[in-house]
Amino acid sequence: MNRPPQSLRDSSPRGGASNAPTRSSPSGGGGAKRRRGSARDNLVYAAVWLACAAPLAWLAFRAFTGDLGVNPIETLVRQLGVWGLRLLLVGLAVTPAAVILKKPRLVRFRRTIGLFAFAYVTLHLFSYIGVDLYFDFGQLVKDILKRPFITLGMAAFVMLVPLAVTSTNGWVIRMGRAAWSRLHWLIYVIVPLGVAHYYLLVKADHRPPLVYAAILAALLGWRAWRKLATR
Ligand code: HEM
Repeated sequence: MNRPPQSLRDSSPRGGASNAPTRSSPSGGGGAKRRRGSARDNLVYAAVWLACAAPLAWLAFRAFTGDLGVNPIETLVRQLGVWGLRLLLVGLAVTPAAVILKKPRLVRFRRTIGLFAFAYVTLHLFSYIGVDLYFDFGQLVKDILKRPFITLGMAAFVMLVPLAVTSTNGWVIRMGRAAWSRLHWLIYVIVPLGVAHYYLLVKADHRPPLVYAAILAALLGWRAWRKLATR
């Protein structure tokens, strides 16, 4: 969600190749080659989609088979949160991976990964409100005001909503690419808030959130370095 969909971007090494469906001509070797490329693209896309959906399917399976441990609600809320955060980080890692591996077409998957991250975080929030708080919205407001980790999580979620809503090509056209890109810079606030949310809620062992913080720092550091280097 942090960059315009590729069908609206250039095919420079920074931007990546087009996201638009490949049109294959009915005849000629070029057409066959394009059709093969397109079939491979679809396969890779299906693999990315399955990889993003697999943790949710596994969690659902564990929930239905009563395999979520002694505190199933906590496990559910936490697993959805941690997968939301992981996918947000994977989304941020796509551009560095595309540049370093010289595979500009990788950036096509950013939108899918971003939308999956949003889905996990939304389910994380709803499982907390529904299963943990029994839809007690008064308690939710109290939590937002009194528990700093909830305040930060909620701030991150509120900022994620416009990014998810405007993730379509139609919105890029409606807003104009510059305004769209400015809005999607919010991702650089959202992910640190997600990591801070995690850090604050952990009571004893801070190593796991610190690992996520280190990955985030590396990804942001790479972007800052690249911006300076390409000036
Ligand atoms: C971008 C937004 C968010 C991200 C990335 C996120 C991520 C996480 C992560 C990584 C965890 C810890 C998982 C673990 O311990 O393994 C967590 C736990 C939790 N989050 Fe979020 N979260 C977000 C938003 C929210 C929101 C909006 C709420 C509620 C209003 C919320 C409520 C909670 C709760 C209650 C826990 C479990 C705390 C506990 O068990 O002690 N989160 N979240």
